[in-house]
Amino acid sequence: MYNTNINKALLLWYDVHKRKLPWREINDTYKTWLSEVMLQQTQVNTVIPYYKKWIKKYPTLLSVANSDIDDLLKLWEGLGYYSRCKNFYNACRIVMNDYCGEIPSDIKKFNSLPGVGPYIAAAVMSIAFNQSHPAIDTNINRVMFRYLGLKNKTNYNKKRIYSKLATFNNLRPGEIIQSIMDIGSSICKTNYVNCENCPLSNSCKAFINGNPLLYPNPKLKKAIPINYFIACFIQKNKSMLIVKRKNDDALGGLWELPMIKVDGLNNRSLFNVSLKNKYNINLNINYKIGNIVHSFSHYKMNISFYNCEIKNSKFYSTSDTNYIKWITRKEINNYAFHKANHKLFDLLEKNNV
Ligand code: ADE
Repeated sequence: MYNTNINKALLLWYDVHKRKLPWREINDTYKTWLSEVMLQQTQVNTVIPYYKKWIKKYPTLLSVANSDIDDLLKLWEGLGYYSRCKNFYNACRIVMNDYCGEIPSDIKKFNSLPGVGPYIAAAVMSIAFNQSHPAIDTNINRVMFRYLGLKNKTNYNKKRIYSKLATFNNLRPGEIIQSIMDIGSSICKTNYVNCENCPLSNSCKAFINGNPLLYPNPKLKKAIPINYFIACFIQKNKSMLIVKRKNDDALGGLWELPMIKVDGLNNRSLFNVSLKNKYNINLNINYKIGNIVHSFSHYKMNISFYNCEIKNSKFYSTSDTNYIKWITRKEINNYAFHKANHKLFDLLEKNNV
């Protein structure tokens, strides 16, 4: 059964309070899809400039399918979760080849494309094709936990949320899910609520029970492990050596200074053996330039950065230029690096290396 009252209340609220975002009020499934890919695990304010730059350079799905993944990764540089970019590229190519460039409006077909999971499938189908599929992102999840007065993040409760959301969704389903996203981002936040202005408060169990902030139970924070690395700055004339990560890696396709994971802060001998195995480089380690720490979502990188020189001259003639390059500092901007590298480049500048 649909809940027409809630549907109406949400749409009335949305018409007045919706955020003006560059991917809204457009009728272009490619752009809706791209925005949802970028917005997964990333804040709206971070996404906006990336989205605008991308659409300027790649206004159509065809332009993405015909592009080079290295150029796409460069545009994505800094946004993180790079597999999203690679999957989106592969998915656009499949849409061109298997669907004559038409993004499928059948949720099962769309869901089978690389990188499209249940959330993105439901969001794109709702927003672009006006189909009613409950899409549950972090904001919607929190609002619904409170609406139903639920505390525990169990599968049973997730199913209850899904079923309840489906009852809100009969008219303008894309705007319904975006209205709940906007409620979650403005008046029903993790540590702040403004229930007087919420269109759901009349029937919100957490509001009725008196303390919405108690719902749902907070997630226990896991300690983030620290992984130690040694990176090397290797110069030849005015160029430095960079290497490309292999594709099957989470940061695959991105460039970096040669670096090796080590057991602890000071493991230089192991470092040389590993570099020899990984890149066929034999090094003298000259001196330590400095140290940086960079946090990814699941681990921290602690990188000791050394000035080194290559001992084996054969390396120069045998290196594979698709994966190993000598570049000048001015050419850094032509390659996509993961963020930790930019901190290392800053160290070079700071230390006048
Ligand atoms: N987060 C994920 N999708 C969104 C959208 N369409 N609008 C705002 N925030 C979002």
